Amino acid sequence: MRAIQIAELTGPDSALRYVELPDPEPVHPLSRDGEGAVVVDVHAAGVSFPEVLQTRGEYQLRPPLPFVPGSEVGGVVRSAPDGSGLRPGDPVAAFTLLGAFAETAVAPSWLTFKLPDPLDFGQGAGLVLNYHTAYFALRTRGRLADGETVLVHGAAGGVGTAALQVARGLGARTIAVVSTDAKERVAREAGADHVVRSDGPWKDEAKELSGGGVDLVLDPVGGDRFTDSLRSLRESGRVVVVGFTGGSIPEVRVNRLLLSNVEVIGAGWGAYAMGKPDYNRHVGSAIDRLVDRGYVRPLVGAHFSWDEAADALKCIDGRQATGKVVLDVREG
Ligand SMILES: NC(=O)c1ccc[n+]([C@@H]2O[C@H](COP(=O)([O-])OP(=O)(O)OC[C@H]3O[C@@H](n4cnc5c(N)ncnc54)[C@H](OP(=O)(O)O)[C@@H]3O)[C@@H](O)[C@H]2O)c1
Repeated sequence: MRAIQIAELTGPDSALRYVELPDPEPVHPLSRDGEGAVVVDVHAAGVSFPEVLQTRGEYQLRPPLPFVPGSEVGGVVRSAPDGSGLRPGDPVAAFTLLGAFAETAVAPSWLTFKLPDPLDFGQGAGLVLNYHTAYFALRTRGRLADGETVLVHGAAGGVGTAALQVARGLGARTIAVVSTDAKERVAREAGADHVVRSDGPWKDEAKELSGGGVDLVLDPVGGDRFTDSLRSLRESGRVVVVGFTGGSIPEVRVNRLLLSNVEVIGAGWGAYAMGKPDYNRHVGSAIDRLVDRGYVRPLVGAHFSWDEAADALKCIDGRQATGKVVLDVREG
């Protein structure tokens, strides 16, 4: 099969190599002994921030070089273990952890989900990482309740657009924080009730729009804005920490938490969900219901052809990405 490897840790411009590799065996490091795994013919691979970091050796997952990156795919089942509920020919969205930048990839059965009818393969490649993270961060960790107000940073990005859709599906009102006009349009397309600008008085606007303070902030950006995120909360509000695309990891003076009766909550989807098949099935069903009700429709901001993998990574690295960035591996 054709595959793309990270061969050196020199950044998106020069780290990738196009290679021929043997087709993978139906085994996956996250599957239990003897459980087997699902082999998927990849139509589209999701491209995300971790792959950019991996080209520089800056991500927590550092496989020995060379390796095939890519954590998620939309594709068609080639083979599946007995009892998985999946059959050859089923269209699926799957989380592979690694190995998605290839014509064939492997995923555990409990991280392989039948692709809902309204979604195409590109959208399938943007379904698991972002939407499971959004559900986990908002509902499981953030305890988001019907009628609450959520402020989403980086709202036009992959996690951000997913969080806007999932939050609305869970009955919340949403305030999106974005940096440009183009990103404002994307956040509105993702269903934001309100959009404010990261270089404007967003904290004051959020307090006014929410009638005194938001219930929850979902933060994939970090950096300087963190203190204002805390200040934008109402009593018993929560900031859920998801990532640090802004480049720096903020520090919290914990007296602020005491004085305002607010919380800071960490949400690391991978660390929580990887060993929990039942939890993943539960979230998969919850997201299916949100697809059925019309709330979840992954926004694919850019498709790149097989030869353009480096450009896909550079699009994310240059803060140009909106919604999900997808690498088209097969036609159709
Ligand atoms: N905790 C978890 O379980 C989990 C799971 C998945 C992803 N993540 C992390 O979540 C973060 C977001 O991922 P994503 O896929 O949504 O990324 P993305 O699509 O590239 O979006 C990130 C957003 O961050 C904002 N941003 C602010 N400063 C930036 C900068 N200096 N460079 C780039 N972007 C900047 C941008 O919005 P504006 O331009 O509008 O500010 C951008 O739209 C990443 O750090 C990723 O590793 C965490």
